[in-house]
Amino acid sequence: MKHFTSVNQLTKEEVYSLLEMAEALKGNPLPLQKQLFVANLFYEPSTRTKMSFTVAERKLGMEILDFHQDSSSAAKGETLYDTAKTFESIGADMLVIRHASDSWMQELQNGISIPILNAGAGKAEHPTQCMLDLLTIYQEFGSFRGLQITIAGDIKHSRVAKSNADALSRLGAIVSFSAAPEFMEASHPYPYISMDEAARSSDIVMLLRIQHERHCDEGDYVDYLERYGLTKEREKQMLPHAIIMHPAPVNRNVEIDASLVECERSRIFKQMKNGVYIRMAIIKKTLGEWGKLNETTIEKRQKAIISI
Ligand code: CP
Repeated sequence: MKHFTSVNQLTKEEVYSLLEMAEALKGNPLPLQKQLFVANLFYEPSTRTKMSFTVAERKLGMEILDFHQDSSSAAKGETLYDTAKTFESIGADMLVIRHASDSWMQELQNGISIPILNAGAGKAEHPTQCMLDLLTIYQEFGSFRGLQITIAGDIKHSRVAKSNADALSRLGAIVSFSAAPEFMEASHPYPYISMDEAARSSDIVMLLRIQHERHCDEGDYVDYLERYGLTKEREKQMLPHAIIMHPAPVNRNVEIDASLVECERSRIFKQMKNGVYIRMAIIKKTLGEWGKLNETTIEKRQKAIISI
């Protein structure tokens, strides 16, 4: 039985099946047919991921066990592992976890006997963000093959950059990075291009914020937008059909001009909306694999259609 820790663990067929399942759930959420408890263990700040998991879980009819790090026994020093084990013992059927450690998944996955969904692991992985980005691109372009995609910003400290680049590349997209020298990561195999070239040549410009919380340098980013960000002038150079994406939160006027956040090309809020549907699909797939669902006839038929 697998926890959902990385998009890399999915075959291409499984990725497409999840995308189709999310599309199907958009029109017909179909609550689960039994009482299931979930705990969202967030040890790092979050608005989008935590709240869209909450909406996804509620739409599926799950019971959410309240957890706040500051008022839990984590504040007395209880480890993540012992907290997860505690929730398992008192009847949680699934855990959704975000933690600053890059490796918490490896530390938990053998000892915990209920499904765990990775909602963010340090600088390493953010697989549900990756899946909602894939869903947004799939809706826009219908395919990934041959798409020119530039991921631009704080590549070095981002958990989105590598997950997305690897998944998109595996699905046939041509991925480039664009970054200020201090935010480049040499170990990734993707070429770096300037922001001017990215704007002119990309089907998708995917922006990332500067991850101040993951490095000490508060920096002086006065001319960052002009040198490395998406300005109004660069947006005018973009291909007619090209779109702008960003996992958010956005630093307006740092990596993107404030006026572009809600412009016609922007899919930033669509990405957030898709976060609910893809997380519903991931929850259902994972619970199904762990034998925790009583599927209705309609659900069995939906699944059969998706797998044809
Ligand atoms: N994109 C994203 O992970 O946002 P949150 O940190 O608000 O969850």
